[in-house]
Amino acid sequence: MPLGIFLLEHFYTNSKAVNGAADFNNAVKDLQSIPYILLIEIGGIFIPLIYHAVYGLVITVEARPNNLYYPYARNWFYMIQRVTGIILFFFITFHVLNFRFGMIPGLNTLSVAHHPDQSFEIVSREFHNIGIFIVYVIGITATVWHLANGIWLFLVDWGITIGERAQRLTGYACIAIGLLLLAVGINAAIAFIKPGGLIPGIM
Ligand code: HEM
Repeated sequence: MPLGIFLLEHFYTNSKAVNGAADFNNAVKDLQSIPYILLIEIGGIFIPLIYHAVYGLVITVEARPNNLYYPYARNWFYMIQRVTGIILFFFITFHVLNFRFGMIPGLNTLSVAHHPDQSFEIVSREFHNIGIFIVYVIGITATVWHLANGIWLFLVDWGITIGERAQRLTGYACIAIGLLLLAVGINAAIAFIKPGGLIPGIM
């Protein structure tokens, strides 16, 4: 739950890049000026993230994929949920070290949190490297899949959607949420290399 809420907020802040560097920098500045921000980051993001990552890796190690024996979509989803989890483990570690802490020698060494006035420039410089940009497209896609399928699994596992029809309809809703988030996430990334994103002036 906290990670899903964080992601919505994060995509919202990233989307400020569509309006240009000043808006994005101000959004990062506003976030960094929240009182007790470090405690909020630790309690609301880092602890839930580490808990989810460790628990997820344990589940993945114990997984018994059977998608080669059964032709059902859900068997594939079971495997893809674990594959995207592993991708996210590496992507988020890289991403947080690179931008939040500026600790990747040879790439960015400035912490965005400590240099909010340069945050657009820092992200934009990284994204102009095609290899890094591809890593982000993969990271955003894996994140959105993991979240959208995760919401559906949560609804089923916790007994909220029980019947076949309810599960099918919530499945469509999760696909719609996923496609929307994917478009918003990718457009935000593009806004760092192409002013205004994919369809400037309209969005
Ligand atoms: C367009 C794509 C993205 C951009 C431009 C972006 C940008 C940033 C920046 C600049 C920071 C540092 C913020 C600060 O120090 O105040 C950050 C932190 C972070 N990002 Fe992203 N991000 C993107 C996608 C993602 C995705 C897909 C995830 C997946 C979960 C993610 C997870 C995080 C996390 C966990 C943090 C640390 C949060 C914090 O300490 O406040 N980001 N991101």
